[in-house]
Amino acid sequence: MEEVARLRILVLGGDGYLGWPTALHLSRRGHDVGVVDNFVRRQYDHEMGVDSLVPIRQLQHRVRTWEDVSGLRMETYIGDLTDAAFVERTLERFEPEAIVHFAEQRSAPYSMIDRSHAVYTQTNNVVGTLNLLYAIAERDRSIHLVKLGTMGEYGTPNIDIEEGFLEITHKGRTDVLPYPKQPGSFYHLSKVHDSHNIQFACRIWGLRATDLNQGIVYGQETGETVLHPDLATRFDYDGIFGTVLNRFCVQAVVGHPLTVYGKGGQTRGMLDIRDTLACVELALTNPAAEGEFRVFNQFTESFSVSQMAALVADTYPGTVRIEHVEDPRVEKEEHYYRAAHTKLLDLGLVPHLLEAPTIQSLVAVVDRHRDRVDFDAIRPSVQWRKTTSALRAAVGTNAL
Ligand SMILES: NC(=O)c1ccc[n+]([C@@H]2O[C@H](COP(=O)([O-])OP(=O)(O)OC[C@H]3O[C@@H](n4cnc5c(N)ncnc54)[C@H](O)[C@@H]3O)[C@@H](O)[C@H]2O)c1
Repeated sequence: MEEVARLRILVLGGDGYLGWPTALHLSRRGHDVGVVDNFVRRQYDHEMGVDSLVPIRQLQHRVRTWEDVSGLRMETYIGDLTDAAFVERTLERFEPEAIVHFAEQRSAPYSMIDRSHAVYTQTNNVVGTLNLLYAIAERDRSIHLVKLGTMGEYGTPNIDIEEGFLEITHKGRTDVLPYPKQPGSFYHLSKVHDSHNIQFACRIWGLRATDLNQGIVYGQETGETVLHPDLATRFDYDGIFGTVLNRFCVQAVVGHPLTVYGKGGQTRGMLDIRDTLACVELALTNPAAEGEFRVFNQFTESFSVSQMAALVADTYPGTVRIEHVEDPRVEKEEHYYRAAHTKLLDLGLVPHLLEAPTIQSLVAVVDRHRDRVDFDAIRPSVQWRKTTSALRAAVGTNAL
């Protein structure tokens, strides 16, 4: 393994789908890793009556297993980023040189259930990030913040999407300005608000930050999680938290038609979970300069929803039906999509592209847990056009 500079890295949201494997990866690469989480993601499962397809162990158990397997320790800090005192205390105790921030409510449908879920999502995400910015500014402004944003911040404009900034000439004058954002849910809007707050903090306090506008992630296994079954990360396929390719693989395995929303021309940037880990590490080991707010578009390929469905149908050995269902979202079902994503490649990212072996390995993961699939959880239940959607498990339930 090549030599890397050892950093003290705090992973916020380290009990989640991406945070956990990222923490393991960074630990294995020789960094000192601390994990922060308040387990609210597990609570959303209880609220919605759904579960990760792949069983996941409690964080403390996973951390102990990692120590047994690798001999490497990770510190854990259990608390809520919306609690400013907790955030300050954690930074004081761990003294990070870098922070990777995954700890947000990340489901667009969840944020669109009703008013209270929208308010919860924006409060959790925006306030958590603001508390973090203040804690960094007050404690140590040299800490590099690597924040997970989303490609969904940009929406689907009819021009090329650039990496964060756009050169604009207006009435004969030219400037490089933040790329206009047209997000598609209150969740995506929370990320836009975060981006503005982070950029402002870099400008006024000289903080250093990298905003990773990430595409939709697929996959479940990484070089570290496969070392022991108890190190597994979650795998969501339900209509609220499931990401599209993961959901299609589950549908193929259980003989359910692949449910394409609307025409299926919705095109999005995608990446393999192993590339998420590599991108975060590249951002950490090539930090932003003092006062710099930089944006990387973190995805490797784009596909339309129909293309993804066809890819799964063509790869899966059995018969697969594709069904177009009414699109519960308000989004363009056919549109222009071309987004720049060169900055991480320039830093050395070597992508895992979406080819048959990747889909086969995903299908194999699903096959091992097929008896845990809850068919009822797959159908979309949240309607963008309504201000309140009735959920199967949530009659009379209020947001957290
Ligand atoms: N999964 C994807 O395809 C994808 C795509 C683009 C961007 N992202 C972004 O990456 C990040 C991680 O995504 P994920 O899929 O791992 O989500 P996840 O929900 O599995 O993980 C997020 C973790 O953060 C924790 N958390 C949430 N709010 C918290 C708070 N206030 N205090 C402490 N902990 C809190 C949750 O308990 C959870 O463990 C998110 O910010 C998400 O928006 C994910």
